[in-house]
Amino acid sequence: DIPAFVKIVEVGPRDGLQNEKTIVPTDIKIELIRRLVASGLPVVEATSFVSPKWVPQVSFSTTVQLTSSWLPIESSDGCVNFQGFEAAVAAGAKEVAVFASASESFSKSNINCSIEESIARYRVVTQAAKEHSIPVRGYVSCVVGCPVEGPISPAKVAFVAKALHDMGCYEISLGDTIGVGTPGTVVPMLEAVMAVVPVEKLAVHFHDTYGQSLPNILVSLQMGISTVDSSVAGLGGCPYAKGATGNVATEDVVYMLNGLGVKTNVDLAKLLAAGDFISKQLGRAPVSKAAVALSRA
Ligand code: HMG
Ligand code: MG
Repeated sequence: DIPAFVKIVEVGPRDGLQNEKTIVPTDIKIELIRRLVASGLPVVEATSFVSPKWVPQVSFSTTVQLTSSWLPIESSDGCVNFQGFEAAVAAGAKEVAVFASASESFSKSNINCSIEESIARYRVVTQAAKEHSIPVRGYVSCVVGCPVEGPISPAKVAFVAKALHDMGCYEISLGDTIGVGTPGTVVPMLEAVMAVVPVEKLAVHFHDTYGQSLPNILVSLQMGISTVDSSVAGLGGCPYAKGATGNVATEDVVYMLNGLGVKTNVDLAKLLAAGDFISKQLGRAPVSKAAVALSRA
């Protein structure tokens, strides 16, 4: 049995564009977000409040401009510490996300602290968010593999996911950051996490490095997960993981869900047009399989 409705969380403007070499001007990002919302996507992650020295693609001023001009519509924003949270709130963010990792090495290279330290920081963020009535989404990265450590144990993922759930994150997104997972490794990981966090609180976040995202999403749905992260036009990559490609393309996820008769409320034609729009801005052809197939049809 798979869910009748799947909530797609579009992460292209944040997770996607933060990893593209080309720095996309703010007005183009806003236009992209408008198009994504117009396609029916229920949640669009707009940007992140991180150090511009670490991620120049989301420089602080751009982020504030983007958030304040964009926020009347539903969106979420990432932050890495209390400073980021305060900036997001000042810019009018209605929802934020925090980035934790199941890999000690990735935590260090991505957010410059240990897993324990990140959990302590995020407790401060979720506490403050509660006072502002701002929902917090928690990410766990490297849920099957890490670029430095290799395979990651399901128990480690469950530990971090539970910590995020316990501190009040309303949703926990499990990210195969470098896209090495297959249903063979994803299923045991999900079993371990589902033993400690209710399945309705979980989302899956796959990158398509080995072309395993769709089978991984399908097994996740079969296990009861009904929230899926994806990125229009397969935008993205990972600066700390050489060779990792972007998130699974939203167009391909919608195509598969349409085929399964699962509702998403997303208009595939409008979504394809949004993918075409941003791909042109980046000077390349759209990479989703759906866009490639339809361009030949
Ligand atoms: P640090 O150098 O240890 O931080 O970096 P610090 O506290 O020593 O501060 C250094 C400087 O950064 C200071 O400025 C701070 O003010 C500034 P200076 O005094 O040198 O001029 N700073 C900030 N500026 C703006 N916004 C902030 C902020 N915080 C400090 N929030 C830090 C630690 C966490 C800041 C840094 O490592 C960082 O920004 N990392 C973010 C990296 C990132 O965004 N990675 C991508 C997100 S994770 C991801 O994408 C995975 C996911 O998609 C799931 C998946 O794919 O699996 C979620
Ligand atoms: Mg990602």
